[in-house]
Amino acid sequence: MNIGILTGGGDCPGLNAVIRAVVKRGLQLGHEFTGIREGWRGLVEAKTVKLTRQSVSGLLPLGGTVLGTSRTNPLKKPEDAEKLFRNLNELKIDALVCIGGDDTLSVAAKLHEKGIKTVGVPKTIDNDLSGTDFTFGFDTAVSIVTWALDRLHSTTEAHQRVMVVEVMGRHAGWIAVYGGLAGGADVILIPEEPFDVEKVCDLIKKRREAGKYFSLVVTAEGAYPKEAGGMITKDKTLDSFGHVKLGGVGEFLATEIEKRLGVESRFVVLGHLQRGGTPTAYDRVLATRFGVKAIEMLNEGKYGRMVALKGNNIVDVSLQEATEKLKTVDPEMLRTAQIFFG
Ligand code: F6P
Repeated sequence: MNIGILTGGGDCPGLNAVIRAVVKRGLQLGHEFTGIREGWRGLVEAKTVKLTRQSVSGLLPLGGTVLGTSRTNPLKKPEDAEKLFRNLNELKIDALVCIGGDDTLSVAAKLHEKGIKTVGVPKTIDNDLSGTDFTFGFDTAVSIVTWALDRLHSTTEAHQRVMVVEVMGRHAGWIAVYGGLAGGADVILIPEEPFDVEKVCDLIKKRREAGKYFSLVVTAEGAYPKEAGGMITKDKTLDSFGHVKLGGVGEFLATEIEKRLGVESRFVVLGHLQRGGTPTAYDRVLATRFGVKAIEMLNEGKYGRMVALKGNNIVDVSLQEATEKLKTVDPEMLRTAQIFFG
C-alpha cells in the first residue's frame, strides 16, 4: 500500500520517532510512504514528500516534526473536505497513519466512517487522550517541569518568596500533578478541581508559620478559582477546532497571593519550553512501539483504531471511543499530591 503519514496539532517530542518507526517497519512489510506536510492542511493543499529509509534515518532523537504540523480542521468547510478526498485519490494514498491528539484523531475517526483506511497514534504532552494510559511527549514535558522546579526551588528559597509556576495541559491537570509531585511543589492546582484563593493562601501561611518561608505553587494553565466560574484566558480568538488560548492564571495567583499575604511573589510561565527539544528515553521507546504497532495494524487491515498503552502492553482501541471524551486526572493521583501540600 501507499501509506500517508501526517502529524497534526501542537508538536510534541517523539513525533519523529513515530515517523521513523512506521516507515522502517512498513518498508520491511513491503509498503511505501508519502509524508503529508503540515497536518490535515497538507492533504487539503496536496503538500507531500516521499519518505524513504534514508529520509527517516537519524530522526529518533529529534524534537518537533520533520513533516510540520498545523491545527487545521479539514472537515470544517465542505470545499476543504472535497479537496482532501480528491487529493487522497490523485496522490493514490491507500491508507493513513494519523499522529495527533484528540482534534487530529477525531478527524481520522470521521474519515474512517467515510471509508478511508486510518489508524491513529496518540500524541500530546497533555496526556488527556482516553483509551491509553499515557501518550508520548508527556514524560518529556514532565521532565522539563521537574527540571524547572528544581532550579526555581533554590532562588525561591533564597528570597523567601512564593513562586507560581504555570504549566501546560489545557483542560487536564496531568502535567501539573506529575511535574508538581516530581518537583516537590507545595501546592498543585488543576482544572479538574477549581481552587479557592483563600485556601491556597492558608496553605502558604501555615508553611510560613512552620518555619518554611518560601513556597512553590504549580498551576495548570486551565486551573481556575471557583469564584471565576471558568478558565482564565488572555486572548479570545479560537483555533479551527474551537479552542481558546489559555494562560494568565499564574500571574493572577501571584498577584493575589502577594496582595492577600504581603509576601513577595513571582510567576513563571513554562510555556512551549515543555514541548520543545529531544524526547526522553521513555518517550522514544513509547513512540517507537506505537509506530511499529500502527503500521502492523494497517498491514493486518485493522482500520479505525488507535494504538494505546495499557499497563506495559501496546494494544489497539477504537478511534471513536478514544476521541469521545477527554481523560482527566485520576482523583487518586490528586489525593496523593495533596498529602504533600503546605
Ligand atoms: O495541546 C498541547 C498544548 O501544548 C497545550 O498544553 C497548550 O494549551 C496548547 O497546546 C498551546 O498551543 P499553541 O502551541 O497553539 O500555543
